Amino acid sequence: MTARKIIIDTDPGQDDAVAILLALASPSEIDLLGITCVAGNVPLDLTTRNARIICELAGRPDMPVFAGCDRPLRRALVTAEHVHGKTGLDGPTLPEPTMPLQSAHAVDFIIDTLRQHPANSVTLCPLGPLTNIATALQKAPDIAGRIEQIVLMGGAYFEVGNITPTAEFNIYVDPEAADIVFKSGVKITVLPLDVTHKALVTAARNDAFRALNTPVGIAVAQMTDFFERFDKEKYGSDGAPLHDPCVIAYLLAPQLFAGRHINIEIETTSPLTLGMTVADWWRVTDRAPNALFLRDVDADGLFDLLTHRIARI
Ligand code: RIB
Ligand code: CA
Repeated sequence: MTARKIIIDTDPGQDDAVAILLALASPSEIDLLGITCVAGNVPLDLTTRNARIICELAGRPDMPVFAGCDRPLRRALVTAEHVHGKTGLDGPTLPEPTMPLQSAHAVDFIIDTLRQHPANSVTLCPLGPLTNIATALQKAPDIAGRIEQIVLMGGAYFEVGNITPTAEFNIYVDPEAADIVFKSGVKITVLPLDVTHKALVTAARNDAFRALNTPVGIAVAQMTDFFERFDKEKYGSDGAPLHDPCVIAYLLAPQLFAGRHINIEIETTSPLTLGMTVADWWRVTDRAPNALFLRDVDADGLFDLLTHRIARI
């Protein structure tokens, strides 16, 4: 089986970091062509710093990392330091990156990569606001027919919002970008809060990372120790949802997930529900399905996969 070619578009973020590590730990299944960074959890200068820190932690200073959009298409940037800490990667003490940032803009890397590789051979994996993806689609409409699929973390329906009562953070930060992506006609698979909130890093699961007793395993446990405090306090849950690794886990083991192909539209005007993913799960409208909305996950299977792969680095 040839490895699937992907681009990870990301706003690290501790959970983004674990997703990147999972991809790097799976070279026979995933050929990570590059990492494109976007402003989201923290500003762009920190997301590009954090992505390189994680690549060097994984022993991959060769991985091309690109800076993308530093703000949403039309709105002021909303960040999430309250969850991820002021650096966006609080928890472990990791050295500042020495690997360079690529000179090309992330959007141009996405466009050029999709044009250079055979059509339908590259999968885009957005883990943050969709600003880079939407900008690439606007700048080069021809790429829509070349993307194998977009597998993204974002949105929520039954689980409702995490940054507002109705909106999930990635979609809320740039709802116009999300609207462009969901109307692009590209094949889309969504890992929403409905799934990620069933993927809780319980103490036992985090101790399994720590027990690997490797620099990566310990760093993942320390990131989670920091990252989980906000969600545990907010939800009173037995651990934080590990959002972004679900995207990579879906690529590696889709059988762990279940959902429906439905219509999803994005609220872009109402101040009350801005950024809501209006998911027609019960098919009460005649709006055409445009995404696979995943709702369930085998959480034990997910963490077994994650722990065994992280152990490889
Ligand atoms: O709502 C969760 C999402 O927002 C995750 O991708 C997390 O990293 C933040 O970007
Ligand atoms: Ca993210």
